Amino acid sequence: MAKPYFNFHSPFLGGGMFCEARSISVRRHNGKSPSMVRGTGCYLYDAEGKAYLDMSGGSGAANLGYGRQEIIQAIRHQAELLIHTGWNIDNPHRHALIERLALVVPFKNASVMGAVTGAEAIEVALKIARAKTGRNCVLYFSNAFHGKTQGALAVSSNKLFRKHIPADAVEYPCFSLESCYPDIGEDTSDWSSSFRRYLDTLEEARGQLPAAIVVEPIQAAEGVHPLPSWTLETILRVGLERGVITVFDEIYTGFGRTGDPFVSRQGMVPDLLVVGKALGNGLPISAIIGDPQLVDLLTYSEHSSTFTFMPLACAAACAVVDLYCSERPWENANSVGLHLRASLDRLAQQDSRISLVRGRGLMLACDVDDPEGAQQSQPLSARLRDKLEELGVIVRTGGQRPSTIKMTPPLVISKREVDIFVSAFSCALSSV
Ligand SMILES: Cc1ncc(COP(=O)(O)O)c(C=O)c1O
Repeated sequence: MAKPYFNFHSPFLGGGMFCEARSISVRRHNGKSPSMVRGTGCYLYDAEGKAYLDMSGGSGAANLGYGRQEIIQAIRHQAELLIHTGWNIDNPHRHALIERLALVVPFKNASVMGAVTGAEAIEVALKIARAKTGRNCVLYFSNAFHGKTQGALAVSSNKLFRKHIPADAVEYPCFSLESCYPDIGEDTSDWSSSFRRYLDTLEEARGQLPAAIVVEPIQAAEGVHPLPSWTLETILRVGLERGVITVFDEIYTGFGRTGDPFVSRQGMVPDLLVVGKALGNGLPISAIIGDPQLVDLLTYSEHSSTFTFMPLACAAACAVVDLYCSERPWENANSVGLHLRASLDRLAQQDSRISLVRGRGLMLACDVDDPEGAQQSQPLSARLRDKLEELGVIVRTGGQRPSTIKMTPPLVISKREVDIFVSAFSCALSSV
């Protein structure tokens, strides 16, 4: 039993032992991990005031940095007025947010469905695809991660997470495109014809095409694997030709992360675009955007949750989109991302333990391997992560390969802060 945080005498049970569930407990997982009390810019601070440069960017949600006064003011103001009403009572902030989203996503006409988390938004996209096609099967890519609720897990690759799909999950049968990724290569026509053949085989075997193809333009959580844009173009073309709903999961890549506003752009627009994370810059809010004829197949109340487009989250998201439009954070992501990438490439040339530097904008990763450290209890990536924490830097590791180090800092990071990270990384490498 883990050490409880509180040990108090309950009038009901005569005292109890409560602890944080193992699945979410960073403390139980890694006792040395710091606990954060405050944040500003790209830095988090623990209770002793030690600063940590956050190269994980709050799991890629804190794009505009911590402690942004404009967002705090909007939250403070809205909290005084009205935090919550329940999804089925209207509030003006929903409409203000939808108006703003119309300015930043590449749709001419769209209906915007709200949700709370990324996983919920993926579930909604799958529901819409099923409503449109009457079909169940969903096609996803190996190394995909779309969330941890059961429908979202059905289109995510990680075996540890997938074991929780119940046995009757046949309503969402899934297929891995092992043949398509990561060995996509350069031959676009080859990939395109093998993808088409794959769909034919699937249709033959199941008697029907899938309802949807769900794809992350850069596969994030499982290790930062960018899909070449021509694969995305093929997916859109094939989806259109064959009547399969295309879903771009831009929950991680959206709002400037990759050095572009979104990966979706004019000429490359999916049927459904799913956004989350950075939309609230830390408050939970997500959205599914698509043609009204498609999104509105879900009739009133067919999907909702208590907190859908709640006033507080919408007010925060409005402030986020305003800042996003005025600051154009993708431009900094692009230039600082190139700087980080070049520094990592240089480190990789100096240290053969680093390989596979990859990614775009400020969604970057590399792998670290230590052939001589085979007998160590932890992989090199975990030892580096711990050493970096000692040095005041946060990175997150893992995905499909435990050796991966992922870097998705707030998009407001400067070149100077990147240099601080790179010298800490280099120092950690020489000491583990
Ligand atoms: C691409 C992608 N989709 C969906 C999700 C799930 O989002 P959430 O954790 O908000 O449910 C994530 C989370 O990391 C993600 O990276």
